Amino acid sequence: MGGTPNEVTPGGGDLAAFVVRPLVRADLARLADLRWKFLGETAHLEPRLRLAVDVRDRLATTISVWAEQDARETLVGAASQDPETLLGYATGLFSVWPPIWRAQRVGEVGEAFVLPEARRRGLGRLLLQGVLSGLSRRGAEVLRAAIPTRLEGSLGLARSLGFTPLLRVLEKGAPAPGVR
Ligand SMILES: CC(C)(COP(=O)(O)OP(=O)(O)OC[C@H]1O[C@@H](n2cnc3c(N)ncnc32)[C@H](O)[C@@H]1OP(=O)(O)O)[C@@H](O)C(=O)NCCC(=O)NCCS
Repeated sequence: MGGTPNEVTPGGGDLAAFVVRPLVRADLARLADLRWKFLGETAHLEPRLRLAVDVRDRLATTISVWAEQDARETLVGAASQDPETLLGYATGLFSVWPPIWRAQRVGEVGEAFVLPEARRRGLGRLLLQGVLSGLSRRGAEVLRAAIPTRLEGSLGLARSLGFTPLLRVLEKGAPAPGVR
């Protein structure tokens, strides 16, 4: 198949169409905006993960904490032709898992998000692979991703990179006090 270097190939993706790079301070406001969209979409798809009323105000603080965390890998992505306008991000943390079974150095993906209008062109995979590579370079022995079951895109992306189910988190409403 021919095509110019920046031509987007649906499904297969065109890596030259995007730039992916580590988060810098100048991105913080734009990243908070993207994260707001991610959380809104998640809450829409899974109403049990509803948002606190003041979430928007808190986002600026949590995002600036991300920028300070040495153990965190955060990448942002944009179109090559417009590198200032962020289209997505992915973030993950390196940690040692509590040694109940066996202490493991774990790289855990927290979030990966691409704006709906930029999806299915390969940016999500680029971002997630970049974060996973960073976590592996830090010494992670296993890579993990906790994903709400209704996020079909996130589940599909993780599966496409070889992740398989490990834990299933079951939930139900708590009975009212005094009710058995
Ligand atoms: C998960 C997410 C980051 C993927 O971003 P993206 O840029 O579209 O991902 P890519 O184009 O790199 O896709 C890579 C692979 O992931 C899988 N994938 C991506 N989106 C998928 C979807 N909606 N359903 C199933 N698999 C999907 C596919 O295997 C895909 O490869 P293919 O396009 O060759 O089939 C993006 O969908 C997102 O931000 N989602 C928000 C949360 C969510 O899941 N919402 C529901 C969306 S339908």
